[in-house]
Amino acid sequence: MNNINTYINQHKDRFITELIDLLKIPSVSADSAYKNDVLKTADAVKEALEKAGCDAVEICPTAGYPIVYGEKIIDPKLPTVLVYGHYDVQPADPIELWGSPAFEPVIKKTEIHPEGAIFARGSCDDKGQMYMHVKALEYMTQTGNLPCNVKFMIEGEEEVGSVNLGIFVKENHAKLKNDIILISDTGMIANDIPSITTGLRGLSYVEVEVTGPNRDLHSGLYGGAVANPINVLAKMIASLHDEDNHITIPGFYDNVEELSTEERAEMAKAPFSLENYKKALDIDAVYGEKGYTTNERNAIRPTLDVNGIWGGYIGEGAKTVIASKAYAKISMRLVPNQDWKTITDLFKNHFESIAPAGVTVKVTPHHGGQGYVTPTNTIGYQAASLAYEETFGKKPIPQRSGGSIPIVALFEEELKSKTILMGFGLDSDAIHSPNEHFGIFNYLKGIETIPQFFKHFTELSK
Ligand code: BES
Ligand code: MN
Ligand code: MN
Repeated sequence: MNNINTYINQHKDRFITELIDLLKIPSVSADSAYKNDVLKTADAVKEALEKAGCDAVEICPTAGYPIVYGEKIIDPKLPTVLVYGHYDVQPADPIELWGSPAFEPVIKKTEIHPEGAIFARGSCDDKGQMYMHVKALEYMTQTGNLPCNVKFMIEGEEEVGSVNLGIFVKENHAKLKNDIILISDTGMIANDIPSITTGLRGLSYVEVEVTGPNRDLHSGLYGGAVANPINVLAKMIASLHDEDNHITIPGFYDNVEELSTEERAEMAKAPFSLENYKKALDIDAVYGEKGYTTNERNAIRPTLDVNGIWGGYIGEGAKTVIASKAYAKISMRLVPNQDWKTITDLFKNHFESIAPAGVTVKVTPHHGGQGYVTPTNTIGYQAASLAYEETFGKKPIPQRSGGSIPIVALFEEELKSKTILMGFGLDSDAIHSPNEHFGIFNYLKGIETIPQFFKHFTELSK
C-alpha cells in the first residue's frame, strides 16, 4: 500500500491547512463563554467527515455539547471499526505564557520536531489526532482502500468528563455496534521509538471547602485564637501522604493491582532516560512513592494531587486577614480494580474525619472514571503492532500511560469491545499547557499508519 505515501505527499499541504482551520475555532468545553465556538466546531467536524466520504453524518444532540456521528458501511459481513475522538479542548490559560496565541496556529521548528510542529491549543489533544482519522478515511475512500466498515463518534465534552457521552453510549448499543474501538488521544515514547498505549489510569476528581469563622477576620485581633481555614486545609492536605509518599486514606490501596516482578522487569525494558526527563522539566530530582521507579509511579501506581488551591488575599501588596473559607481541587489517578466511586467515598469520609474542631469541611465530587488495560494477545493489538512495524520499520513497545480517558472503560462495559490506543503525541507536546503543539511528522505518520491498521485488522478478522 505504498500509494498512501504518494497520496500524503500530494495532499499534505491541504491536510495541514485544514487542521489549522479547525484549530482556529476555540472549542473550550469548560468555559460557557465559548459555547458558540464549540457548536461551530461540531459543524466543522460534520462537514469534514462528509467530505472524507462518511455517509449519514449527524449531529446528535445531548444535554450538553453534541456528538458528531458518521459511518461508512461497505458490507455488513465485514468487521466494523469505531473511531472515537474529541473536538473540545482545554482552556488556553495562562495565555501570557504562550509564545503565539493559542487559537492562531503557527508552525515552528523545535529540537524534537525539526520538520516543524503546529502550535495551538488542541493541536495534539485531540483535534490533530482526531483529524488524522478523518484524513485516513479520505485516503481509503478516495483510493478504494477501505477494507471494512467504519463508524466515527467525535464528542465535545471529553475534557469535562464525558458525562453525556456515557448516556449516549448506553442508549445506542445497536448504532455503535463494532468489532474494535480505535482511539488516537494518547502518546508514544519518541518519534523513533513507536509505542502503543496499553493502559489508562482511572480518575476521581473532588473539590473541598473548609469553613472557619462566619466572616473574614483581622489576623491580629483573631489570629492564633480561631482556626484559620487556609492553615487547616494545608495541614489536612499534607497529611494525605506519609513520609514515603504513600497515600494515607484508609482502604485506598485495598484493590490496587500489584504487578509481578516479571511484569515490572518487562516494563523497565522500555527506553527511558531519567537524566533527560529531569532536564526537560528543569528539576534536579524526581519525587514520588517509595519503592517505585518514575515510569511505575506514573503508570501502574495510584496518586493524589492538588490541582488548585485558593482562599484569602491574593491581590497586590499585603492584607492582614484570616479568610473565612479555603478551597482546593484534588485529583486521584487510579489503577485497575480501584473503583472510582468507592475511592471518592473513601476520600470524602476520611477528609471529613480529619477536620479539626473549629472548622467544617465540605467535599464535592466532580467526575471520574475507571482505569483501563488492553490485552496484547488480541487481533486488535496485533493489527496495530503490524501497522506500526510497516510505517516506522520497528515493532512498537506496549506501554501503560498515566493519563485518563474514562469513557474507554465504559465502552468495554456497555459495548463489550476492546479499545486500541494508537496515540501519536509526545509527552513534550505540552498538552493542557501553554504552547501545546503537534509534530507535522507525527500528524502525517498517523495518517499513514491508520489505514494499515484497518488493512491488518480486516485480514486478521477473517
Ligand atoms: N487525551 C487526554 C488523556 C491522555 C493524554 C491519556 C496523554 C494518555 C496520554 C485526555 O484528553 C485528558 O486530558 N483526559 C483527562 C481526564 C478527563 C476526564 C478530563 C486527564 O487525563 O486529565
Ligand atoms: Mn484528549
Ligand atoms: Mn485532554
